[in-house]
Amino acid sequence: MNLDNKKIVITGGAGFIGSALAHYFDQNYPNCEVLVVDKFRSSEIFSNGNLKSFGHFKNLLGFKGEIYEGDINCSKTLTLIENFKPDIIYHEAAISDTTVREQDELMRTNLNSFKDLLEICKRISAKIIYASSAATYGNAKSPQTVGECEAPNNVYGFSKLKMDHLGQKYAKMGVGVVGLRYFNVYGKGEFFKNKTASIVLQFGLQILSGKAPKLFEGSDKIRRDFVYIKDIINANLLAINAPSGIYNAATGKARSFQDIADILQRELGANLGSEYIKNPYINSYQFHTEANIETTKKALNYEPKWSLEEGIKDYIPEIKRIFKEELNA
Ligand SMILES: NC(=O)c1ccc[n+]([C@@H]2O[C@H](COP(=O)([O-])OP(=O)(O)OC[C@H]3O[C@@H](n4cnc5c(N)ncnc54)[C@H](O)[C@@H]3O)[C@@H](O)[C@H]2O)c1
Repeated sequence: MNLDNKKIVITGGAGFIGSALAHYFDQNYPNCEVLVVDKFRSSEIFSNGNLKSFGHFKNLLGFKGEIYEGDINCSKTLTLIENFKPDIIYHEAAISDTTVREQDELMRTNLNSFKDLLEICKRISAKIIYASSAATYGNAKSPQTVGECEAPNNVYGFSKLKMDHLGQKYAKMGVGVVGLRYFNVYGKGEFFKNKTASIVLQFGLQILSGKAPKLFEGSDKIRRDFVYIKDIINANLLAINAPSGIYNAATGKARSFQDIADILQRELGANLGSEYIKNPYINSYQFHTEANIETTKKALNYEPKWSLEEGIKDYIPEIKRIFKEELNA
């Protein structure tokens, strides 16, 4: 698909990944008409104490496209999206917090509204590229492969797995549906996710404030596939011309939480050691993720470009800026 003069909706565009996409199109495809739809944050919280939505206007500073504050559970918002007549919908809006316990609200927001968007795509022949998650795998054996041993261990992961199943149903009806199973994404734009921001940012800020990074006990053995935001944006672009399907979006390499703490201390010139704390999420925690990205490579022509070392190095100036301008503002 040639992107000239195309219309693009980005749901969740005030969040981490959605805003990175919005800026990317602004800067690289100024002929595209981009509409960001997001609920933005309020003071409402879930029973786990975290905000109900993390969207923040600061993520969109400098963005030149149109913005609509709206809830994807609301028919007025859905009608607005349909009337915009997008060629592509990037669907990033979700309850993105894996520790939320309100199953009703989470399933409604993540799954029901996805069905509404799929129906819109069917009616107006739009392509939808949506955010799935490594949480669909739970503690499935590594390397995690799409369609194998998916056993989510929290309602968030379950909602994403059911989104994948639903998306494939619509793909069979002829709708262009690409699901990207993001693994652990880190990078610019995640600060406003508060406690749910990546561990790279959290350790970075702890180190900059002169404290030893706080790791869960056994962190040298807890490994995840950490993927830099720039690789995720690239996967989203490549998805435009990919056949319908579900694809892992990751690096294909598992690294430990201890690795992150060590790389950060090296990059920040610190030697603070580590503090070990008990893992409060032990029953719903993923201890080892590593994506099988063979299908993604073939179908999307995707190649991860950022190792953990390079990604963190690229991110350091932004972590320092956050520490100076946001945290201590
Ligand atoms: N960041 C990661 O590591 C990661 C990993 C796997 C999957 N994902 C998925 O990627 C997508 C983007 O994640 P993110 O990290 O940018 O999270 P985020 O929380 O920063 O972004 C989600 C955005 O959706 C908005 N939103 C929430 N509920 C809404 C509603 N009802 N109506 C309209 N907008 C609403 C929020 O305000 C927020 O701006 C999500 O679907 C998430 O589940 C993220």
